Amino acid sequence: MKTNTSEKATVMELDTAARLSPGSTQTIRPTPSVETFLSQSIDSAYVSWKLQEQVFSEADLDILARFLRSNARLTQHEKVRQFEVAFSGWQGCKRSVFVNSGSSANLVLVSALKELRGWRDGDEIIVPAVTWPTTITPVLQLGLKPVFADINLNDLSFDYDRLAKHITPRTRAVFVAHLLGFPAEIPRLKDIVQGRSIDILEDCCESLGAQCDGSKVGNLGIGGTFSFYWGHHLTTIEGGMICMDNEDLYKLCLLKRSHGLARELPPQYHRAIRTAEPDLDFKFLFLTDGYNVRNTELGALMGLIQLDRLNRLIARRNRNYARFLAICKTYPDQLITVERSGMSSFCLPFLFRDREAKEECERWLSASGIETRPLISGNLLRQPFLRSYNRQGAFPNADFLHTNAFYIGNNQFVNEERLDVLDRLLARFFLNRSKHGPIEVPVNAMTKEACP
Ligand SMILES: Cc1ncc(COP(=O)(O)O)c(C=O)c1O
Repeated sequence: MKTNTSEKATVMELDTAARLSPGSTQTIRPTPSVETFLSQSIDSAYVSWKLQEQVFSEADLDILARFLRSNARLTQHEKVRQFEVAFSGWQGCKRSVFVNSGSSANLVLVSALKELRGWRDGDEIIVPAVTWPTTITPVLQLGLKPVFADINLNDLSFDYDRLAKHITPRTRAVFVAHLLGFPAEIPRLKDIVQGRSIDILEDCCESLGAQCDGSKVGNLGIGGTFSFYWGHHLTTIEGGMICMDNEDLYKLCLLKRSHGLARELPPQYHRAIRTAEPDLDFKFLFLTDGYNVRNTELGALMGLIQLDRLNRLIARRNRNYARFLAICKTYPDQLITVERSGMSSFCLPFLFRDREAKEECERWLSASGIETRPLISGNLLRQPFLRSYNRQGAFPNADFLHTNAFYIGNNQFVNEERLDVLDRLLARFFLNRSKHGPIEVPVNAMTKEACP
């Protein structure tokens, strides 16, 4: 945060006034008019708080530049394999497949499972009403039927009490999303599907390192997916990973990632394929329908660099989240807080009891230099591409998140100083609101956001 000394004084003065509750017996300085209050606060507490910043240090960039200079081959090769092995070690799974995005990871996982399990077109996959669209799109694109289930407000995953009613004889899988770094209760899901041939797929794109009952998410179902997009716990600029223990699923993921090419399989499988297909050149031998969603050697090197510091990055995020929780808990009448053990914080989410207050506060923080985002997609069924599925029922919790929630970034650049500013901004916001009623933050005071 950039503030000079005189600005800081203004912040502290306002802060003192803000911290005194309206009913307090202590003397409160006369509150400025709403307009003055807003303009003073925006000017004096402006903080540049983006969703993400430059995560690569000068030393990292040197390593990357050296690699670029000294390696002619930059397409998927040894570094990718090295990153996959290292990631499997960190994650605690047998196999990992590095791809070019979390969305591709979902696509490859669903496609490989459809083939492995022999799912038919029209078979049903239970999906959450709140997640990123690309948890759902592979289901649609592969001819399967998404069956939407509402979420809960404790861990933002499925409404467990109502999940069973979505199961039919055609249900083949439950695609759970661990959102914002909060681990879903997988044992509860397993109880619900127990005794049926229903797979659990985990979308962990926002929850790298989160744990459920001592196991990292992504290891609890048949396969887990991760996103390494900018702003996530670990970033390869664009990138994603699929992890699993099942060797047949692994083989299919390798094939699907790269055109269906047999040579993508580990060498121990080559001889049998060559023998079975003597008339085809092994170099161009296609075993299944595939995509090309490979990543690069450079992406893998970026991943390897950060893997060494990943636990520290996650700990920083969780420390920030703990402080954020403490701030939010000052306003129990205004804010709902989400708290889960085993979490790996992705961002700092605000869930407002009152919709108008949410809208004002989002503009207020935005005008103060803090980038904001909707809580993922909101209720996905309100999005044009899925509106026809809205007939599937009521989604009150997804609707609540749609209208009453937003988030701001959490990462290694968020520190006590920034959280102090957030604390003061919120104190001023709620004090001002309690004194003057709804606040009109001028829309043109909004910061211009570069939307990723
Ligand atoms: C829950 C979830 N699934 C999937 C994705 C897709 O990941 P990517 O942006 O790497 O394609 C995201 C993206 O953030 C996500 O939040």
